[in-house]
Amino acid sequence: MRTRLDTLVRSAQSAGRAAGAFTCYDLTTAAAVVAAAADRDEGVVLLVSPSTAATTYGQTLVRALRTLADHAPVPVSIQLDHAGDLDLILRTVEAGADAVLVDGSKGGYAANVALVLQARELLADHDVALEAELGRIEGNEDVAALVAAGAAGLTDPAQAKDFVAQTGVDLLAVSIGNVHGSYLGDPVIDHERLDAIAAEVDLPLVLHGASGLSPLTVRRCITSGVGKINVNTELRTAVLERLAATVPAALAHGANLESVMRSWSDEARNQVSQILSSLVAE
Ligand code: 13P
Repeated sequence: MRTRLDTLVRSAQSAGRAAGAFTCYDLTTAAAVVAAAADRDEGVVLLVSPSTAATTYGQTLVRALRTLADHAPVPVSIQLDHAGDLDLILRTVEAGADAVLVDGSKGGYAANVALVLQARELLADHDVALEAELGRIEGNEDVAALVAAGAAGLTDPAQAKDFVAQTGVDLLAVSIGNVHGSYLGDPVIDHERLDAIAAEVDLPLVLHGASGLSPLTVRRCITSGVGKINVNTELRTAVLERLAATVPAALAHGANLESVMRSWSDEARNQVSQILSSLVAE
């Protein structure tokens, strides 16, 4: 059933959990994510990356996800992730996304605020929840080295308070040592910074780059006020590894595509189920 992202996340938080948000490049994975959430009677978020949304099939995928979400037995939100292109944001919301991460984090503080306000104005006639990102979340980086070099772009707690007041966003993604993709070296999450941010703002925080973080670290973040956990790399790696193991036998036995799709779906459902079971406060 269609549910606003902020409502879905706040309801997970009041049950002592965080909502899981999973990047979906395709309908098979998305259906498996929803099935895993339904098994647990929990809401879930389907993330669509801007690169997927911009492909020739991207908007068709969003329309299909909208149908999947509307017919799901649990709350499902569809979120366009990390989007900075206003035209793509509007098209994707019109296709059925009900939440957007308006990502102006690469452009400096004032530009970030301005982009969120532009998106808010553009989407004034749509019932859409907005997430923003303050600080910079890197990809495949050794954050400890960046922190040591003073180049990590971590979220500043005082700035977070001002940012939320100026933009009125519904959720805030934080940079506290988390990175997208692989962690080079051991992840070092700045829990004190997270607590300081949470003390300054009254809205759910979002942890991107959860692949590669220990369940204990994630639980501690949830206790500190993180209400949505974004996962991509862990899920797609598990699916690709399963496909690599399944495809040769399927090719040898009449190119059985349905058996491959079943493996894909089973793997995604198991992975998501395991991840969802770990998204609880300490
Ligand atoms: P990972 O690929 O590190 O899991 O990050 C996913 C993410 O944050 C999507 O927004």
